[in-house]
Amino acid sequence: MVIKAVIPAAGIAKRFWPVTKIIPKELLPVVTTPSLHLVLKEAGESGLEEIVLIVSAQKIPFFEHLPEFFPKLKFHFVEQKEPLGLGHAVGLSKKAIGENPFAVLLPDVIFEGDKTVTSQLIEAYGKTTRSVNAAEKVPMEKVSLYGVHAIASSEGRLHRVKGVVEKPKPEEAPSNLVVSGRYFFTPEIFPILKKTAPGRGGEIQLADAMDTLAKQGGLYAYEFEGKHFDIGNPKGYIEANRYFGAKKYADMD
Ligand code: G1P
Repeated sequence: MVIKAVIPAAGIAKRFWPVTKIIPKELLPVVTTPSLHLVLKEAGESGLEEIVLIVSAQKIPFFEHLPEFFPKLKFHFVEQKEPLGLGHAVGLSKKAIGENPFAVLLPDVIFEGDKTVTSQLIEAYGKTTRSVNAAEKVPMEKVSLYGVHAIASSEGRLHRVKGVVEKPKPEEAPSNLVVSGRYFFTPEIFPILKKTAPGRGGEIQLADAMDTLAKQGGLYAYEFEGKHFDIGNPKGYIEANRYFGAKKYADMD
């Protein structure tokens, strides 16, 4: 079975203006590699073969180099005409994905570790045969940056999820186990996304659709092994550059 991946990349990245008025955020480099290339490398190393890139029309020309850099991956470009949210973006991939389970990789997050986070999710899916999110425990004061899982039961790193809340206040969060930017969904998510009303910020939230899926008993969270870098904001982006830059040039003074 060919496993496809959805990469939502249509955002305007206001937090990085003015540079992202000129180049897409996804092509800003981590040291010398465009961050999207790191995400595509993860996809390739995880055995994924087809990429559905959700883009805005203005960004398409910037991504035309991708087949040349990643000849083993097949690319589909799907246009998101309006910024209606992450859930809306993933919903647009339905036709390109078809009836198979698929991965979602947010290009705002990169990982370092022995095994890719997407491979870890595919393995977890092998056990559960239901949708599974990459998850991580964070300090309680940071939960409001993320989708947060309500846990029904746990077995080692694998948790059965009974609900998901998008960016709650720490005092309202059901746990400190957050959604970390990698997902593996069964196609069950598509009819749910279609029915999901705009939520936080007036956007169709993927987390709200996952909440519905969890309440139907269809969602797990897997605490991945590895280190996570949130490069969707300038501070995290600089941290990732410092970390990977120091590693790359460790021998230089
Ligand atoms: C998005 C999701 C959130 C998730 C996060 C992971 O938020 O909406 O549920 O926890 O990615 O990075 P964003 O970071 O785009 O605001």
